Amino acid sequence: MEHVRVCLSRRKEEYQIAIGPGLLGDVGEFARCSLDSAARHIVLVSNPVVFDKYGGTAVRGLRKSGFKVSHWLMKDGERHKSLRSLKSALDFLAGKKLERHDAIVALGGGVVGDLAGFAAAVFLRGIAYIQAPTTLLAQVDASVGGKTAINSTTGKNAIGAFHHPRHVVIDTRTLRTLSTRDLTSGWCECIKHGAVGSRQLFDKTFRFLSDGSDLGKDRGDENLAKIISAHCSFKARIVASDEREEINRTDYHSRRILNFGHTIAHALEFVTGYSRFRHGEAVGHGMLVAGDLSKRLGILDGSDLESLRAAIHLAGRLPRANDIRVDAIMNALAPDKKTVGGQIQWVLLERLGRARIVDGHEVTQRELRASLRAALQLIT
Ligand code: GLY
Repeated sequence: MEHVRVCLSRRKEEYQIAIGPGLLGDVGEFARCSLDSAARHIVLVSNPVVFDKYGGTAVRGLRKSGFKVSHWLMKDGERHKSLRSLKSALDFLAGKKLERHDAIVALGGGVVGDLAGFAAAVFLRGIAYIQAPTTLLAQVDASVGGKTAINSTTGKNAIGAFHHPRHVVIDTRTLRTLSTRDLTSGWCECIKHGAVGSRQLFDKTFRFLSDGSDLGKDRGDENLAKIISAHCSFKARIVASDEREEINRTDYHSRRILNFGHTIAHALEFVTGYSRFRHGEAVGHGMLVAGDLSKRLGILDGSDLESLRAAIHLAGRLPRANDIRVDAIMNALAPDKKTVGGQIQWVLLERLGRARIVDGHEVTQRELRASLRAALQLIT
């Protein structure tokens, strides 16, 4: 089993991420170690697809450790990460009479984790929760870092809170039942980690993906746990250095660098009604655009851009985006949370392993449109 520690310097707290095959069966023990000793009742939040596959194992594991367990299932899909679902979740928690020391376990991908985490953040002004992510993207990214949110009419993750889990339990065997598209989505976020912060991690991920055509699915428990652990460690380092994504920080250790590819990704998801792309697939396109823009502005050299493109290609096939109007994307950029003083803060690349935050003033509409046209044509 691999372990990663997430240190929260602001509050002198930390929590652990455990990574390995079959860990879901031990979720009760992880809960016992990390929750208040008075914790009695756990509400498992999941969706019907994931609960069908893994709910039984998680419920048995929690009951074995003496918890009373109830479950609440949300509909699958990004569009259900909504105020309406949140209200149903909160009504359920209230109906079950959960108390302050009780907890939620989020079993599923990023949508489940974000909604369950936000429900935990606001119910009774904050109760504990544990993340048990079952998709690659949630394992390497969404379950680590404490950002919880729901979407609103103004944009993705527009309503949220920082609320860290007490423990993250990653069972790598859940990836065996993951679709190819969901694997691609997760690997795109992994490529992002390397691209913005560590050339070594970028190369490691590149090698892992080049070593077979299964996107890691059948690569053996140990190899998979190691690469997931490397990505969780990277994310944990960034979170520790900038827990709340301080608005004035623009250095290359700031949390903001993790938004590489996300400005365009959120716009693509928004204009397609959250129905065409998995989040990581949209990030794949977003990185191609931001990479092109970095080169167009003379920040990134051509060979690094080629390596970035090759890595995204290795992560799998992205749904096409070349039929989406550039004007529609430009309009959708406005409400993005990554604006400061009305300006988008672009996360671009100086080289693979080093990001640079560039103020929106420095990017002309002409350059942006040219990058959108060029990069979105790459996938046909
Ligand atoms: N929960 C994801 C993050 O904090 O980045």
